[in-house]
Amino acid sequence: MTRLRSAQWYEGQDRNAYHHRAWTRRGLPDDAFTGRPQIAIADTASDLTPCNAHLTEVAASVRDGVHQAGGIPLHMPVMSLGETQMRPTAMLWRNLAAMATEEMLRANPIDGVVLLGGCDKTIPALLMAAASVDLPAVVVPGGPMLTGYFRGAPLGCGTAVWRMSEEVRAGTLSEEEYARSESAMVRSRGHCNTMGTASTMALVSEALGMVVPGVAGTPAPDSRLLQAAHGTGRLAVEMVTADRRPRTFLSKASFHNAIVTLAAIGGSTNAVVHLLAIAGRLGIDLTLDDFDRVSAQVPVLVDLLPAGRFLMDDFHRAGGLRAVLREVRDLLDPTALTVTGKPLVDCIGQAPLWDEEVIHTRASPLLTAGGIAVLRGSLAPDGALIKPAAASEHLLHHRGRAVVFDSIEDFHARIDDPHLDVDSGSVLVLRGCGPKGYPGMPEVANMPLPRKLLDQSVRDMVRVCDGRMSGTAYGTVILHVAPEAAAGGPLAVVRTGDFISLDTQARRIDLDVPAAELARRSPVKAHFASPARGWERLYIDHVQQADTGADLDFLLGASGSHVARDPH
Ligand code: FES
Repeated sequence: MTRLRSAQWYEGQDRNAYHHRAWTRRGLPDDAFTGRPQIAIADTASDLTPCNAHLTEVAASVRDGVHQAGGIPLHMPVMSLGETQMRPTAMLWRNLAAMATEEMLRANPIDGVVLLGGCDKTIPALLMAAASVDLPAVVVPGGPMLTGYFRGAPLGCGTAVWRMSEEVRAGTLSEEEYARSESAMVRSRGHCNTMGTASTMALVSEALGMVVPGVAGTPAPDSRLLQAAHGTGRLAVEMVTADRRPRTFLSKASFHNAIVTLAAIGGSTNAVVHLLAIAGRLGIDLTLDDFDRVSAQVPVLVDLLPAGRFLMDDFHRAGGLRAVLREVRDLLDPTALTVTGKPLVDCIGQAPLWDEEVIHTRASPLLTAGGIAVLRGSLAPDGALIKPAAASEHLLHHRGRAVVFDSIEDFHARIDDPHLDVDSGSVLVLRGCGPKGYPGMPEVANMPLPRKLLDQSVRDMVRVCDGRMSGTAYGTVILHVAPEAAAGGPLAVVRTGDFISLDTQARRIDLDVPAAELARRSPVKAHFASPARGWERLYIDHVQQADTGADLDFLLGASGSHVARDPH
């Protein structure tokens, strides 16, 4: 093994080395500082991130594994982002969490890191940090919660809330019953149990090569998660010895496998913006077109909410990610490596598939293709997404009159107005919700439908937005429109009454207004935020658009782990 990075802190007899050793020692043996890999356990556990609150116990198992393999484990709490708690949206701080974690890893005597995440933004932020600091790194996903039940039926986190809140608005579910469901929704520790963003990012991270194969998707209360955490701690030590850093094994091929997986599991659209951001840190040329091109070849195999029927508990029981990967093995890039040093395809084995209703076979897919499609056109010159699997078939080709809202507040104020000029063929347009405009690109694109249309049993409409959509949501939603309205995109000049055409097959989203007329219009600006100071100021000034990952422009790429100066 070459000299450890941490030796820069601990070797020698000068005053700095004395300080570094003496303050860390606290009962550690003398040999703790000579040749033993120092492994940080980057822990996003927090009571304010309920999905990750159990990670401290997972960290204890990692710790045991690191010890057993001869390393020194170092608990390192890092910034945590609770999806359900943070206002205005946890996405506003994904880049800050990534930057803070990167800086903590670089500034400290760390040789490798085990990354503990779960709730939506936590794994993406940790992976962005790991890519930029480029130390040996491996993720332990915190795992989904067990299925909760209400009135005898399973509750899909998030998805059931959307559904029941619409039922309350439509008058088919009482306020009392709705309130009673609240305590049944979250049955155990762990993150949302649908194929939302957290589940998606855990599985996609494994396909990317950043999780020990076979671990992602293990339910949070399952003791096998602790066993996996123990094994991952041991692996982290081995990765340091082998100098297996993200840049030594992640490649464009790894992202190809991540996209194949995203499509096959019918995963969240949020994974697109996160994978683009991670690739941006690695300097890998990943584009929206890669998602469309690769997804178009991949059948959707997994029948999970929000688009399907089952939940993560069922997915794990049915065989989990490896069963999915076995079905699409021929679509995977065999050159892509994993944290183990072996190719992903060599880690699949003969993974059994126990329930073909939950995970379909290749011979009998849920959908022949259609994970995530990328649209372009006069309304979204740089791209927009649609998830056809979560959309209504009859709306995938549609032309309708725009009903425009300038902000989510404007939307809430007017959507249930009985005099609102809207019908089932209208296209709801919500702007001011992009990375700069909100700021932070909230999950508002799946706008609730107008009450008067719900009363007419309308259950889906075409909706267009520069924001994101919760991975637990569904509907014919065109989202991540780029450029956003606040960055001068065409969304800023749409007016109520304009016609919008959607042609999913042709990958088009167009504003049917003559260019000369558009040129005469002034873009709407009034509702876009412009804070004077702090993180929001930095964020608005530097955030990029959704089509390239919504990272800050000065965080692209990597600085590595080298620190040029001593503390003195
Ligand atoms: Fe944390 Fe859904 S709220 S994963």
